Amino acid sequence: MSPVAVPESVGRAAQAVIYRAGALGSRPRVPVSPAGLERAARRRMSSRAWAYVAGSAGQERTARANLAAFDRFRMVPRMLRDVEKRDLRVELFGRSLPAPYLLAPIGVLELAHRDADLAEARAARELQLPMVLSTQASVPMEPVARELGDAPRWFQLYWSSNDDLVSSLVSRAEAIGSDAIVVTLDTHVLGWRPRDLDLGFLPFAHGQGIAQYTTDPVFRELVAARAALPATGPSPRPTPAALRTLLSISRHYPGRFADNLRSPLPRAAVETFLEVFSRSSLTWRDLAFLRERTRLPIVLKGIVDPRDAELALDHGVDGIVVSNHGGRQVDGAVAALDALPEVLARVAGRVPVLFDSGIRSGADAFVALALGAAAVCVGRPYVYGLALGGTSGVVEVMRNLTAELDLTMALTGVTSVAGIGPDLLRHAPAKMGV
Ligand SMILES: Cc1cc2nc3c(=O)[nH]c(=O)nc-3n(C[C@H](O)[C@H](O)[C@H](O)COP(=O)(O)O)c2cc1C
Repeated sequence: MSPVAVPESVGRAAQAVIYRAGALGSRPRVPVSPAGLERAARRRMSSRAWAYVAGSAGQERTARANLAAFDRFRMVPRMLRDVEKRDLRVELFGRSLPAPYLLAPIGVLELAHRDADLAEARAARELQLPMVLSTQASVPMEPVARELGDAPRWFQLYWSSNDDLVSSLVSRAEAIGSDAIVVTLDTHVLGWRPRDLDLGFLPFAHGQGIAQYTTDPVFRELVAARAALPATGPSPRPTPAALRTLLSISRHYPGRFADNLRSPLPRAAVETFLEVFSRSSLTWRDLAFLRERTRLPIVLKGIVDPRDAELALDHGVDGIVVSNHGGRQVDGAVAALDALPEVLARVAGRVPVLFDSGIRSGADAFVALALGAAAVCVGRPYVYGLALGGTSGVVEVMRNLTAELDLTMALTGVTSVAGIGPDLLRHAPAKMGV
């Protein structure tokens, strides 16, 4: 009997790896179930790191709503449609991606793993999925870009109150070969985050997550100018905690640790960062400033109202990410998935609409794609993978998400991402009232 050649799909390949290892007695180091993944990561991370990564705004109603929104949709699988060969590729801004996933911009990844953005970049390279580099990264974009090799990269911009710094970050993003600039609109100030507040923990105050700034020539001039000013106010009491903070700030500043300990620059850098981080006075008109400075596609992240989507199009943007920052900004804000259909209807295919906030599985991604998202950004799940296994942890999480999407496509009767449409979705029957 000749063996039948069955094309190995991503989904079946992932199952095979796990079940084969299981037959030999080992279980996945990075749990496959979303709840198990979260639990394992929590055990691995410090309480501060966990609060920062898992925490959201207020009573975390929006964070919960982001997940619950997926329960309101059901798929209706179709049969006998020859789904043996499946293609998960999508095209975005002229580039073909192997799956409709991007690694969302996540700041301060050193809280999850010491290799932080470098580890994520190695995973992105292996997966050939776009990494969206954060303005609040733990590692500057240039070395991260080297780790990325030929993998696609986008740059996420927090619009600083200093325009020269904005220009400088954008030209660096161009120099490292970014395919797009993602302007995050929903975080011009930090939301009210009780978990972090109760620990009194803001990573930036410890010099964490400000590497894009401390390596920027414009920012460094601001720091030098600040450090040259005569000291004002009382100096902090030399408590053990204050000393640890000073050590952390000095360790994070570029240059020799011993020199940094004696220098006023590292502390001035933290203060300067807190001053220039963002600009709450930004309006639609300011987008012209960015348009003049770059030919790269401009993508706005954090749009949840169709009127804002319309304004975005009026102002010539090239893409939108429907997102509420994983519920980290406005407690009680609309669930991102609930906002997606209206935004898509208003945009009507004129620019790609991406989605994030609540993607925990391949089935979740399927729902967002079926509603019309061009691709989805994965946030917390890959950070949990990073905490558990560095680069290979991120690869495993993304492989699992891809595998489940592939199998969901097969089992619902579609062979391409374009084939994942609203015809495959129904609203779940409303729950009986109690
Ligand atoms: C720890 C953490 C840090 C984040 N940092 C950034 C950031 O620097 N820039 C940004 O645009 N979004 C940032 N986000 C938001 C993500 O890009 C994304 O919108 C969010 O994680 C989606 O929610 P989910 O992870 O619950 O699915 C961050 C999210 C988390 C959890």
